[in-house]
Amino acid sequence: MGEHVPLLEVKNVKKYFKVSSGWNHAVDDVSFTLERGRTIGVVGESGCGKSTLGRIICRLLDATDGQVLLNGEDITHAKGAKLKKIHEKIQIVFQDPYSSLNPRLRIESTVMEPLKNSHRFTSAKAMNEEANKIMELVGIDERLRQSYPHELDGGRRQRVGIARALALNPDVIVCDEPVSALDVSVQAQILNLLMDLQEKMGSAYIFVTHDLGVVRHIANDIMVMYLGQAVEIAPTEVLFKRTLHPYTKALFSAIPSTNIHEPMQRIQLKGEITNPINPKPGCVRADKSSCSRCPSPAAASPPAASTPRKPASSRRCWKRWNRTTSCSAAAIKRSTIEKGREKRLWNWFMTRANTAF
Ligand SMILES: Nc1ncnc2c1ncn2[C@@H]1O[C@H](COP(=O)(O)OP(=O)(O)OP(=O)(O)O)[C@@H](O)[C@H]1O
Ligand SMILES: [Mg+2]
Repeated sequence: MGEHVPLLEVKNVKKYFKVSSGWNHAVDDVSFTLERGRTIGVVGESGCGKSTLGRIICRLLDATDGQVLLNGEDITHAKGAKLKKIHEKIQIVFQDPYSSLNPRLRIESTVMEPLKNSHRFTSAKAMNEEANKIMELVGIDERLRQSYPHELDGGRRQRVGIARALALNPDVIVCDEPVSALDVSVQAQILNLLMDLQEKMGSAYIFVTHDLGVVRHIANDIMVMYLGQAVEIAPTEVLFKRTLHPYTKALFSAIPSTNIHEPMQRIQLKGEITNPINPKPGCVRADKSSCSRCPSPAAASPPAASTPRKPASSRRCWKRWNRTTSCSAAAIKRSTIEKGREKRLWNWFMTRANTAF
């Protein structure tokens, strides 16, 4: 039997930007895999490299080192016609739908643009029909199709951004904070839409967000990034049951509790926060005052976290670094995790709605 080839494989990807004082390690040795029809959430504080990683995967930026494989084919250095094909297969939805749409193009033309550029259609009629089908799928009313972006509200504009990304039925869609500029009721509509479309079309999503509430409801797996590194990767249910890396622990401790009997216990990371510019080798939390796991603060970096094979967590940590650490939630089967997704979205919306109004 042939070896299984994942839809997307990111292998030890690095992106260093030259700055006046040296090199900014924006993405530093990140590896993960993504299967068709699944979603990986990418979380972490501002500037940890989430968008840079997304842009490398879309081939809007070149990686400094490492590989990106789509269906087993190395696309890291693709150029010309091959790059054009990759841009059709990997699409991006941006945070701000207004600035990512051409203000001079009507909605219909915006959705039609990728169809035109692909040269897949022999007649204008067939292209029009396809554009109408996509707009219907994402819920853009017929009356709005001749409007300009400035005439629409944020939620409808984001639907146009999603329609444009979906037009060529891509394998992978990078959603870079697609709902953070929208109000809570529209957020739920767009998240539901993305989940419905994934079911219908089978695309895989890389969902970049700051919002742990959103990622919990939409992602199958979560990758936690810190200073350009993936410090922990785990199935969503597992990560919300138990966090392993000190940074993930601190990040998750900031989630407000709605249970008055379980007040928040915020963990403050102590010690110096490593600078992404010319970082020293070693663990990002190597400072002894915040973590006692490292053999020596000056030790080489611990091996990168990668997508675990079973429902378990993989973390970038010296402690038990040489195996993925399963936790008490390891008994959770993936099928149970999938079923919970829809129910959680509704619960999330109700919690948000109660807080917001
Ligand atoms: N074109 C660029 N040139 C130089 N440095 C850059 C460039 N793009 C990003 N960076 C730097 O790379 C690091 C990661 O930036 P990135 O935008 O990926 O972070 P992010 O996690 O998406 O942040 P946010 O959550 O605020 O969107 C930052 O230190 C940023 O200053
Ligand atoms: Mg970003």
